[in-house]
Amino acid sequence: MFEKLKQRWQVNGFNLVLIITTFALGGSLCGYAGRKLLALTNLDKGAVWVVLYIIILTLLWPLAVLLVSFPLGQFSFFKKYINKIGKRFTSPNRNTGLDGCNRLTRIAIFASGSGSNAQQIINTFSSSATIKIALIVCNKPGAGVLTIADKAGIPSLLIEKDTFFKGDNYLPELQKHNIDFIVLAGFLWKIPEALIKAYPKKIINIHPALLPKYGGKGMFGHHVHDAVISNKDSESGITIHYVDELYDHGAVIFQATCVVNENDTADTLAHKVHVLEHTHYPIVIAEIVQKTVFNNNL
Ligand code: GRF
Repeated sequence: MFEKLKQRWQVNGFNLVLIITTFALGGSLCGYAGRKLLALTNLDKGAVWVVLYIIILTLLWPLAVLLVSFPLGQFSFFKKYINKIGKRFTSPNRNTGLDGCNRLTRIAIFASGSGSNAQQIINTFSSSATIKIALIVCNKPGAGVLTIADKAGIPSLLIEKDTFFKGDNYLPELQKHNIDFIVLAGFLWKIPEALIKAYPKKIINIHPALLPKYGGKGMFGHHVHDAVISNKDSESGITIHYVDELYDHGAVIFQATCVVNENDTADTLAHKVHVLEHTHYPIVIAEIVQKTVFNNNL
């Protein structure tokens, strides 16, 4: 349970203890102050007293918690936390997830290959209450990922170079589908600056090697694995990173490695790398989305 909380709130063990202490002390302070206030009214402890007590607790709780959080160094955490609860009450149109923490985040997958990663991501979130794969964006007519989208009943958007790079960058289309977050899974075109600005720290990519090695223009698919093998590297792996204006360049979020044996070929290495991708990408997506929601950036 504590591990889950650490992940959800993106804090270490020490901060988790301080946060739980703040909840406990803030709650007690709030209860004490509520009873003192009601004592001033001379009301009997009947139904009216209980209703008033609940109203007072609801109003006092944020104040009490913020007050206690200050000396415990948790003010910024609770400021965000209370802000988030407030938003949940004041935005009735937002869908909220069943875990009571997250709203529904709508993801667009940009992919132009066979789509095995896209398939894995779709399967993982098919019954998620917090993440919906809402759109597949593809630049290759006939790509396998389009069939995957069709079978899963997910709308797809076939894009053209001119509009993507020189036109509106398909931003209105993404907005029409209420896309909150973009996941690249085998998408070879560079992401235009306008999209990066529209989705700051909300576009991530997966690369089939350990960046910064074997990245950049032209480094995709077998080109990457051929290079790893001809350099006789003893390990390769995957890198999940934020997308910026340069190819394979944004801040690294996650890496996982696999051994490269002497008898590995580009094909066998590609297989090992794919296994890593399918295992880790959906998990990392869930974590990053949760973190982004928690930081109120979604
Ligand atoms: C993956 O290897 C990924 O690392 C790279 O493109 C490939 C896509 O493969 N960015 P698939 O279409 O998901 O099978």
